[in-house]
Amino acid sequence: MALNIFSNSFVVFLLVLLSYSPNGVLVRSAPHYSALPKSDADIVEFALNLEYLEAEYFLYGALGYGLDVVNPNLTQGGPTPCGAKIAHLSPIIKDVTLQFALQEVGHLRVWDYRRNRWCQDGRLKVYVRGSAPRYFGSKSSVPNMARFSPCLVRLRVTNPYQIMINDISIFHGFIEAIKNWVKGFPRPLLNISSETFGEIIDNAFGEKLNPSFDPYANDINYLIASYAISYVGLNGYVGANPLLKSTNARSLIASLLGVESGQDAVIRALLYERWNQKVTPYTHTVAEFTNAISGIRNKLGRGGLKDEGLLVSKELGAEANVTGNILAGNSYSVSYARTPQEILRIVYGTSHEGVPGGFYPNGGDGDIVKSFLKN
Ligand SMILES: *[C@@H]1O[C@H](CO)[C@@H](O)[C@H](O)[C@H]1NC(C)=O
Ligand SMILES: *[C@@H]1O[C@H](CO)[C@@H](O)[C@H](O)[C@H]1NC(C)=O
Ligand SMILES: *[C@@H]1O[C@H](CO)[C@@H](O)[C@H](O)[C@H]1NC(C)=O
Repeated sequence: MALNIFSNSFVVFLLVLLSYSPNGVLVRSAPHYSALPKSDADIVEFALNLEYLEAEYFLYGALGYGLDVVNPNLTQGGPTPCGAKIAHLSPIIKDVTLQFALQEVGHLRVWDYRRNRWCQDGRLKVYVRGSAPRYFGSKSSVPNMARFSPCLVRLRVTNPYQIMINDISIFHGFIEAIKNWVKGFPRPLLNISSETFGEIIDNAFGEKLNPSFDPYANDINYLIASYAISYVGLNGYVGANPLLKSTNARSLIASLLGVESGQDAVIRALLYERWNQKVTPYTHTVAEFTNAISGIRNKLGRGGLKDEGLLVSKELGAEANVTGNILAGNSYSVSYARTPQEILRIVYGTSHEGVPGGFYPNGGDGDIVKSFLKN
């Protein structure tokens, strides 16, 4: 399958979240959640539910295994996801994906965190084995007690799927970033089986597709399933930001939102290029799949119109003047916000924040989630 949109090599800047303390020693175990007001910590922790889901979905899709192998500590002993598997990407994409995955592991190993230091002049000195140190940021430009810093790292990208692979380190970093601020909780039981996605798609179209939609079957199905997974995280971060009291929490959520919305954009762009393509063996096009998924999310969320597929009526397009909809936005073309309740209604697939299901058979975790489960 030709993937034209990013076919030429180009350079992107990816945010890599590094964990460090001001004296340069990598700290993971020491909790700093006391630095956030309780209400902020709860909001930040809520995001952990979605980050676990995304991390496992992308890890398994690319590699066939997840956090249990990549970094078991991050699961805090939570159960292994149910039904997750490697995606059947095209041979060349799969080959390249595996190479990228292994390269990324190497890249991660090459970072020598222990020698990283804050310099006297306030910059962060980062060592990469075998090369001269690089300097990032300034101490004053990051929150006082920051344990993470978005450092810009230049990477050559020759294929969009490398971005997906780079997600692994990003998602990984997300969880570490969040867990440097909040106590966190064990990975909830996740159901990312083909059947879960099949039910979402049947529900979206209001008809039973035959055969059932399989997210792991091929490139296009995997991208559509990624569309179904990623966007609500973006909504959640947009919704969370104005509720936060501390600048530390706002800084963290903005950093997460930046990368989350970038991922949404990449997925939408890859799908937009194929909007008119039939998703075989079905009669529906790519655009129809996105419209149906967005439609069911609006319905389940019960929060009004906050989700738009790739093709919309002119009134919903930018400046009410176009039907192409590569990014979702309101009448001012700014991002939609969703509350935790709306998000849970969607990811549970039950339209009720107190009734678990869908991706979370036993529900999510954290105080916000539990406050709804009790009712
Ligand atoms: C996981 O935790 C153990 C025990 O605390 C520690 O020794 C190990 O280095 C950790 N591994 C990673 C990858 O963080
Ligand atoms: C996962 O979801 C599918 C589809 O709803 C269901 O058949 C299966 O029993 C679920 N598994 C778990 C462990 O909840
Ligand atoms: C919408 O597009 C038409 C041309 O296609 C143009 O005449 C009109 O001014 C545009 N409206 C706005 C609000 O941009």
